[in-house]
Amino acid sequence: MGRYETVFRAAAEDPETFWLRAAEAVDWEAAPTRALDSSRAPFHRWYPDGRLNVCYNAVDRHVEAGRGEQPALVYDSPVTGTRRTYTYARLRDEVAAFAGALTGLGVGRGDRVVIYMPMIPEAAVAMLACARIGAVHSVVFGGFAPPELAVRIDDAAPKVVVSASCGIEGRRLIPYKPLLDQAIELAGHRPEKRVIVQRPQERAELGPDDLDWADLVATAPAAPCVPVAATDPLYILYTSGTTGKPKGVVRDCGGYAVALLWSMGAVYDVGAGETMFTGSDVGWVVGHSYIVYGPLLAGATTVLYEGKPVGTPDAGQFWRVAAEYGVKTMFTAPTAFRAIRKEDPKGTLAAGYDLSRLRYLFLAGERLDPETYHWASALLDIPVIDHWWQTETGWPIVANPVGIEAAPVRPGSPTRPLPGWDVRVLDPSGQPVPPGTDGAIVVRLPLPPGALPTLWNDDARFVGSYLSAYDGYYLTGDSGHIDEDGYVYVMGRTDDVINVAGHRLSTGSMEEVLATHPDVAECAVIGVADTLKGQVPRGLVVLKAGTVRESAEVEAELVRLVRERIGAVASLKDVAVVPALPKTRSGKILRKTMRGIADGLDEPIPSTVDDPNVIETLRPVLRRPEQQA
Ligand code: COA
Ligand code: AMP
Repeated sequence: MGRYETVFRAAAEDPETFWLRAAEAVDWEAAPTRALDSSRAPFHRWYPDGRLNVCYNAVDRHVEAGRGEQPALVYDSPVTGTRRTYTYARLRDEVAAFAGALTGLGVGRGDRVVIYMPMIPEAAVAMLACARIGAVHSVVFGGFAPPELAVRIDDAAPKVVVSASCGIEGRRLIPYKPLLDQAIELAGHRPEKRVIVQRPQERAELGPDDLDWADLVATAPAAPCVPVAATDPLYILYTSGTTGKPKGVVRDCGGYAVALLWSMGAVYDVGAGETMFTGSDVGWVVGHSYIVYGPLLAGATTVLYEGKPVGTPDAGQFWRVAAEYGVKTMFTAPTAFRAIRKEDPKGTLAAGYDLSRLRYLFLAGERLDPETYHWASALLDIPVIDHWWQTETGWPIVANPVGIEAAPVRPGSPTRPLPGWDVRVLDPSGQPVPPGTDGAIVVRLPLPPGALPTLWNDDARFVGSYLSAYDGYYLTGDSGHIDEDGYVYVMGRTDDVINVAGHRLSTGSMEEVLATHPDVAECAVIGVADTLKGQVPRGLVVLKAGTVRESAEVEAELVRLVRERIGAVASLKDVAVVPALPKTRSGKILRKTMRGIADGLDEPIPSTVDDPNVIETLRPVLRRPEQQA
């Protein structure tokens, strides 16, 4: 039996012992005597009697252990020409000061703080400051428009919102403050205060409820770490579901700290003093887990990179970062590599940097296409590791755990389930399928530490969305299969979620927006293959009878509407007015059929179709060659 199998079995056969042992790597105020509490199943809780502070584990304890002068976080921002290093001691002081400022604003244990920020170090400082005082942060990705921010503000009901005067997208400056003001106007809930980081590129005008970050921290007393229950929420992270209302994924403190710390060694092979660079954004789960908490819990150095992998100034920035900071493990979404490859197909820019310390490239967030895998492998000559997980799970479900034992890579598979994850593939009746057969990918309950215990203020939706399809299983929303050797293949979502440039979006929410246009009778949004972003949304709308306006005019308005309501990140740039949408005889829109045609597949026309002519009319509209992979 190999090492992977030994560890996997240990976690499966005696999870209590396995996860209590893993918990020893965390510093507890009260060490847990039990790992799992299933007394309220299906609401499982990890480390029910443990008490800890996640910020203490991520920051202070490393200072106490003598790592105070080691870089904890390196801020690298080619878009502003800034590089700044925060040692663990400096990070502790800045986090303690902002935690003191939040305390002064009346924020305490269990209170929520919404963070709407670009990729600046203050975003990580704000997250850790919340963790320090037991407050619950909810980071909202900066590419979301005010209405999306408003929905999250209403759901999380924060006492304080932390933001910045502006973000920088390539060469464009995006003023954040007006977006925040609009969101607060739209929201029913009114946060008491807003804290704004004034960036030199553009300062914001502050109103009576706004406070300048710099003023606040200048006078704030350092706040100590407040130990909380392991089961207390650390954060809420909203993610797209089938409908427009995002799901507030809750993360606990204890289970998350243990699982992340365990994954840093077992999966990413990163330990204290080593450097990890995750090219993502703190607004996504990848940013929460592997820009902020994971590397810091491990006492490693993390790189917080502001900018795109390409553009400003060139497509060699990821190589520069890797060389300059001696990155051992790099993690990003495949789309970033597709973008780099598009600009620099021969990888000439990489040749200009010393990448000898780069040991692994991890990719996740969307399917890793074989071309990207082969290109990156040939260019870097290091293991390129696909791995599969979700906002809900907090850390990888399936990976090639190089820190335990590297398995031979099979392109197309993120490899095997990690210890703690009992992954199965079921048919629609709930029966397991034979190896190699596609079905719904599910995980047998209980989920391991670090995975979501519930949705914020919505236990019923948690059960309805994830636990009710198959009794005793968590529904991942992905379909795929497992081969004879236990390798998992993730083929795609079974719901309305799409992945655009590694960003998880809901086509359902885009349809909800399109449907509000006064000229739209009905609409559908489908995700179609895209050579750069993996998938992009495409809208198809039928206008109301009697509408006399030019189609092009309505199409442009609809593109603008989605940008204003959901945000630029939705990337809906293609909306077409069509005479009719294909439907079944019972009136269900045939989205899957349209998707198949758009992707150039030989999609069979379902026998339930109402009028096959509608599909034939749509074929030329759906098949736009520039969108096809
Ligand atoms: N604030 C404001 N606007 C933002 C934003 C932010 N934080 N993030 C993205 N946007 C905007 C972009 O400027 C763009 O606007 P545009 O339509 O006016 O050009 C739009 O949202 C779409 O952004 P994106 O999908 O990221 O496309 P892009 O062309 O700007 O960049 C990539 C494409 C592939 C280079 C980029 O998405 C990337 O590097 N992704 C990989 C890493 C990653 O983020 N992964 C996330 C999960 S691991
Ligand atoms: P998010 O919650 O934003 O991390 O998105 C999670 C979803 O992204 C998953 O449910 C998958 O659909 C997709 N995904 C993430 N990683 C992979 C991967 N390695 N291969 C295929 N799909 C992936």
